[in-house]
Amino acid sequence: MKVTYYGHGCFSIGIGGTNYLIDPFITPNELAKDIDIKTIKADYILLTHGHEDHVADTVEIYKNTKATLIANFEVNNWFAAKGVEGGVGMNIGGAYQTKDCAIKMVSAAHSSSMPDGSYGGLASGFVLVFQEDEVDKVIYFAGDTGLYKDMELIQEEFGFVDFAFLPIGDVFTMGINDAVEAAYLVNADGVIPMHYDTFPPIEVNLEEAKREFEEFRFEVFNIGEEKELI
Ligand code: NI
Ligand code: MN
Repeated sequence: MKVTYYGHGCFSIGIGGTNYLIDPFITPNELAKDIDIKTIKADYILLTHGHEDHVADTVEIYKNTKATLIANFEVNNWFAAKGVEGGVGMNIGGAYQTKDCAIKMVSAAHSSSMPDGSYGGLASGFVLVFQEDEVDKVIYFAGDTGLYKDMELIQEEFGFVDFAFLPIGDVFTMGINDAVEAAYLVNADGVIPMHYDTFPPIEVNLEEAKREFEEFRFEVFNIGEEKELI
């Protein structure tokens, strides 16, 4: 699994030659100004919810890549009306199988509205299950969420999570301490922090975060950085 960070809550996850781009918010993000979205490859675009800071570049990247959109029913319909064709509208608890990955939409304790204020369905996270060298791998992409006890259901169903992508910026999502608790609830091995430092209210002390996550394999990404993780 190859992971590339594009800032804020946007990552590309490469699994078996397929690129899953999650929550593209790049061109409005001053910290990501060196990223040229025309160079981004995507076979799928996954959106956790409708907020602008997760969907901003969806139409442009779709035009460049013809990627398949995976999002909740309302978010998918909103983008279909903007010309994003062939998307998959899902809802919480449902799974969609690609050729190399099962993508389950799971709850997030958050809101969801579209950039124009229209209804954006329920905010979600995703669990991705796939194989590397014939070994099952599990990724939990939390999206924007507060801590909630039912994250434990992920551990119950999948047993473990190789990497949990968790928001740590506080104010709009979990902060560091709640994110540590989330990592325990899902039984994560590794943690990738996201949704911090983009705007002044969500600036964090990364050194503190590293200390708080010392029980986990804590992988911090610079914007534009790519790592082969599992
Ligand atoms: Ni949000
Ligand atoms: Mn957000």
